[in-house]
Amino acid sequence: MLKGKKIIIGITGSIAAYKIPSLIRAFIKDGAEVKIVATKNSLEFVTKITLETLSKNKVYHDVFDKDNDYTTEHISLAEWGDLLLIAPASANIIGKYANGIADDVLSTFMLAFDRKVFIAPAMNTGMYKSFPVQKNMKYLEENGVSFIAPGYGELACGTVGDGRMEEPEKIATIVSTYLNRGQDLKDKKVLVTAGPTQESIDPVRFISNHSSGLMGFEVARNCAERGALVTLIAGPVNLTITMPNIQRINVVTAEQMRTACLEHFDANDITVMAAAVADYTSEVVAAKKLKKQPERLSIKFIKTPDILAELGKKKRSDQILVGFALETDNELENAKLKVRNKNLDFIVLNSLRDKGAGFKHLTNKISIINKNLLLKVFEIKPKSKVAVDIVNEIVATYKK
Ligand code: C5P
Repeated sequence: MLKGKKIIIGITGSIAAYKIPSLIRAFIKDGAEVKIVATKNSLEFVTKITLETLSKNKVYHDVFDKDNDYTTEHISLAEWGDLLLIAPASANIIGKYANGIADDVLSTFMLAFDRKVFIAPAMNTGMYKSFPVQKNMKYLEENGVSFIAPGYGELACGTVGDGRMEEPEKIATIVSTYLNRGQDLKDKKVLVTAGPTQESIDPVRFISNHSSGLMGFEVARNCAERGALVTLIAGPVNLTITMPNIQRINVVTAEQMRTACLEHFDANDITVMAAAVADYTSEVVAAKKLKKQPERLSIKFIKTPDILAELGKKKRSDQILVGFALETDNELENAKLKVRNKNLDFIVLNSLRDKGAGFKHLTNKISIINKNLLLKVFEIKPKSKVAVDIVNEIVATYKK
């Protein structure tokens, strides 16, 4: 049911625009209100009158349209919608959005819109796979935009491949599932750590690990999408995230991560320690670059503080604490010990033995072990979906 939900559909110039009337009908039938922002080219493929009749609203297609009550009306629309769906989305609109270009009614409106955006691309396979389009999509995805991947099939240009806009029924299902998702973490405060730490040896070298930070970022994003106020403490990673309810704090070393965690822990209801914190740091950081040694170089490492264990000691009964473990052997036994020893509500175990799981992969395969040592095993899936499983477990734990 979409009763009370307000959906804005942005249409761009692609043959798939002819499918948008059935998408509008699906949304309206389900109880939603729909408004349309259409590029000039899109109206070559679907008529304004069809869109207006089905949506029961006027179509915004020109910044200076004489039918607009005022010239910034398309900007005020940004306050109205719960969600913006760009379908079909051309390479052009994806490129403009990723680069902040506002040269027509839709691209201008998109920059003013700060809620959830879904994009359903439709274009020729070569264009879709081209590096600029892939780069733009990756950048938008990292910033919270969700893509509805195009399907494989015959394209208007006569070739067969990826690039066909997903069918309207499927798009409608994805959007309504999103709109019907619970704000089950509304106003909850969540602290998430992500990424590796770097421990300097001398002014030019450090030891670190292969963590990309993606798992922690996806957990932070999912918590924020579910209404939480998130503090994300990130080690050095190559990721960006901009959501109004995520505050990001960048750190480099384990000691800096500890200081930031201790500062924020008490104020948070839920803490998820997804960071791969270095276990050792160099006892001394040489003031000058260490000279090459003839055979061996010995560096003394000392243990870093175990932040998670420290937080486990401070944890109040109204707080939830989640740890991560990555093991190469005896994983279950070790993970069970950690749940108990570090006073966790549950631990997320990923094993390097599973193909496609752990560092650097976009997918992960996890098991969750709770404080009663109950084990749940999950399928391999994209880290964005793994994050949903983890956050579902947090919500279930919270409700107990
Ligand atoms: O004991 P182990 O290092 O395997 O535990 C991993 C968990 O502990 C992760 O949640 C990680 O964020 C956390 N950790 C920590 N401080 C350390 C090492 C790990 O908080 N020095």
